[in-house]
Amino acid sequence: MENPKDTIIRIKEAMGESLSILGHHYQSDEVIAFTDVRGDSLELARKINDLKAKHIVFCGVFFMAESAAILCRPDQKIHIPDTSATCPMADMAEGKRVRQVLDILQKNGRKIVPLTYVNSSAAVKAVVGEYGGSVCTSANAQTMLSWAIKQGDGVLFLPDKHLARNSANALGIPEEERILLPVDVIEGDPELYVTPSMTDDKQFIIWPGYCPIHEEFSLDTIEAIRAAEPEARIVVHPECDPALVHASDGNGSTTYLIKYAAEAPQGATIYIGTEVNLVNRLADQYKGEKTIKPLIASQCDDMAKITVEKLAHTLDNLETATPVTVSDSIKEPAKLALERMLKVCS
Ligand code: 13P
Ligand code: SF4
Repeated sequence: MENPKDTIIRIKEAMGESLSILGHHYQSDEVIAFTDVRGDSLELARKINDLKAKHIVFCGVFFMAESAAILCRPDQKIHIPDTSATCPMADMAEGKRVRQVLDILQKNGRKIVPLTYVNSSAAVKAVVGEYGGSVCTSANAQTMLSWAIKQGDGVLFLPDKHLARNSANALGIPEEERILLPVDVIEGDPELYVTPSMTDDKQFIIWPGYCPIHEEFSLDTIEAIRAAEPEARIVVHPECDPALVHASDGNGSTTYLIKYAAEAPQGATIYIGTEVNLVNRLADQYKGEKTIKPLIASQCDDMAKITVEKLAHTLDNLETATPVTVSDSIKEPAKLALERMLKVCS
């Protein structure tokens, strides 16, 4: 039987420009080695339309492939090597519940504009598009929040409570203008928890989702590093709790973290609070020049579901495989939400 790496090399060579393999920065080194395009969520979403390829294989989690399927041209097909690679944070907001909450919040005539982090299902993006809202990524959350504030009387930010609060802090939205929704992210009837009057005087309404991988980092770790290595720099992803963001030297998307490592002076020690595959790759890349370490080794098990074996299998079955699709009734409003973001951040 052919070695999976040889299968990938053979099919890539044979298909040339008609195939493009995209990979998120959290993919393993083994998978990343075969990608044609790497990026953060915003960069990958932007690239889809300009790719010549007819077959696009997305090495990342499902919402990324789904966004690609919404934004791609009709002649393109999107594949993901494992459809069970979902994002637990994205699963913390369900389209139906988001609609229910928006309906409750708008009962008193206030226009609440939803802004969803790209880590959300197509169904959520569709609801957001329908209610006049848009999408953001960790790279443009502040820009998109400023945009959303201007569109109505208040903003519902979902699903990530930490990115929400970090963006609000950066824009100076006062605490008294904010409310963290007391809605269970998965279970229960929102009518039991949420009332329109609850948010009457609030400009910024926050859905209580979070990323379990970034939740692993703690302030204690940062304080211990500060005490032991005062010269060390610490940067984190904005999916981390605001207390960690406040205690760090910088925060931003995966692309920001990569740039930070690249631009740090020779000899610097940098602790990075994000998914460990990316941090280890940077550590290897700058070995002997700079010391790069994870705050702690926190791995995204869903990103890790994409393996070289599954990539090889996907490539071997491209013509017969079922591509990632989104039904028209969801695709159109979800596309509207995504395109609003791409327009604002063009
Ligand atoms: P980026 O858009 O910064 O790459 O982040 C995506 C993600 O899932 C982080 O957990
Ligand atoms: Fe989702 Fe967190 Fe994994 Fe990113 S790292 S894909 S937010 S679970």
